[in-house]
Amino acid sequence: MVNVKKQPRKTRRQQQADRRAVAIKLVNLANGVEQPLPLAFQKFVSKDGTNYEISCSRATSLPAETLSWIFSLMEKNMKRPYQESPWGWDAEKKQAELSDPAALHLVATSNGQNVGFSHFRFDLDDDKEVLYCYELQLESVARRKGLGRFMMHALETMALQNQMQRVVLTVFKNNATAVPFFHALGYKLDSTSPQGSDAQHYVILSKQNLSRAD
Ligand SMILES: CC(C)(COP(=O)(O)OP(=O)(O)OC[C@H]1O[C@@H](n2cnc3c(N)ncnc32)[C@H](O)[C@@H]1OP(=O)(O)O)[C@@H](O)C(=O)NCCC(=O)NCCS
Repeated sequence: MVNVKKQPRKTRRQQQADRRAVAIKLVNLANGVEQPLPLAFQKFVSKDGTNYEISCSRATSLPAETLSWIFSLMEKNMKRPYQESPWGWDAEKKQAELSDPAALHLVATSNGQNVGFSHFRFDLDDDKEVLYCYELQLESVARRKGLGRFMMHALETMALQNQMQRVVLTVFKNNATAVPFFHALGYKLDSTSPQGSDAQHYVILSKQNLSRAD
């Protein structure tokens, strides 16, 4: 007769620790991928026939002039809304965030000109593996042509391919362009969005990777 010893049941805390270890492993794996942007997302032709090239690089590999353009577009688009929010505008902090070694950037160009970028990271959020979209910023000439939708689709595909649970982002509630944009793309209020968010100036939105369970 074989004596099968019953394994002791794992406590809730042990289960959470196991789950966190898996999440950390997946984030590290995703961050180890040399080129996460699939070939299919490296070119885009908009409705009006404009051609765009899209590349993906770590902030630390971007030429200094590209990083400087990224910061100047960020400032052009977002300085005022930040100033009008309780966060205020801290140029040094934003520059450090955009050039952090963990930062990845999609950069869209058209005819050799930079026209848009997205700063994103594979990271832990509330102990879950996520793709966090820190920024999506387009020059005004490149808006309303489907480029923003295409770049978000690229992020969602990279999240899926790297087994992230969801794409998460923070948006000012009064951003009259971005709020309808993210809703049009199917983003919903995230469970980590501050409670009683009526009192807050921002919301956290997310889109679940449907092949992963929470
Ligand atoms: C938000 C932003 C990235 C959207 O990118 P975009 O390429 O212009 O958007 P798309 O053309 O892909 O639009 C997709 C859908 O979003 C919605 N949408 C986009 N812009 C909109 C606007 N200004 N008003 C209302 N709905 C809008 C529409 O439903 C649109 O579909 P349609 O063009 O078929 O009607 C771009 O406007 C931008 O860079 N804004 C300034 C920076 C900013 O606010 N970034 C977000 C910070 S969180």
